[in-house]
Amino acid sequence: EKEIAREKDLQGKKILVTAGPTQEAIDPVRYITNHSSGKMGYAIAKAAMLRGAEVTLVSGRTAIEAPLFVNVVPIVTAKDMFEAVTGISNEQDIIIKAAAVADYRPAVVSSEKVKKKEGQMSIELERTDDILKYLGENKREGQFLCGFSMETQNMISNSRAKLEKKNLDMVAANNVKEAGAGFQGDTNVLTLITQKEETSLPLMSKEDAANKLLDKILELTIR
Ligand code: CTP
Ligand code: CA
Repeated sequence: EKEIAREKDLQGKKILVTAGPTQEAIDPVRYITNHSSGKMGYAIAKAAMLRGAEVTLVSGRTAIEAPLFVNVVPIVTAKDMFEAVTGISNEQDIIIKAAAVADYRPAVVSSEKVKKKEGQMSIELERTDDILKYLGENKREGQFLCGFSMETQNMISNSRAKLEKKNLDMVAANNVKEAGAGFQGDTNVLTLITQKEETSLPLMSKEDAANKLLDKILELTIR
């Protein structure tokens, strides 16, 4: 079988993958989240495990089953993810941040259910910490940092800006508006962007996309 035949080319590598959405509570019954299914991150974690890596998967709430032989750390909020990731980031050789982390959370979380009233209502939001930016600022020698970038327009230039701003080694960019790409499906269309190059992958399964991404990281870290 394909999975058994896979070369153990990531043996001895410690890889941290983040996946899924975060949830930010408004009150005890409501929260703010996004459409991330977790499928891309889970596919990367599984592929890396099958290729011999020691994999930790920090995951928001998803509907999919955790891959076997992967150390899964479940989290709910962006703050949880920040703490889980930064607590173990130093020991990692490769960090791949496929999670869709909330940029904002309610500034105040109501301890009781918010009751409806006449007219409009608004919720004040505050910024969460940017986990990837923190990792870029605290990157240790030889560590490889890969972010994801979800865009609906100016995908390449916006993603390059993230590469620079967060001190990343690679960004895997996808356009949510492109057919077969993005959050919910079983396929993706990724462009792998580094300082020096851009590799546009065709539409493929998230499993194949995961292996292509790992191939590229291996190629870049061997050089
Ligand atoms: N990310 C993170 N912590 C956050 C927000 C984002 O670690 N608080 C990471 C994501 O996991 C992803 C990368 O940053 O790997 C890019 O996320 P994205 O939402 O595409 O970009 P942002 O930098 O948040 O910018 P914007 O949402 O404004 O496009
Ligand atoms: Ca964001």
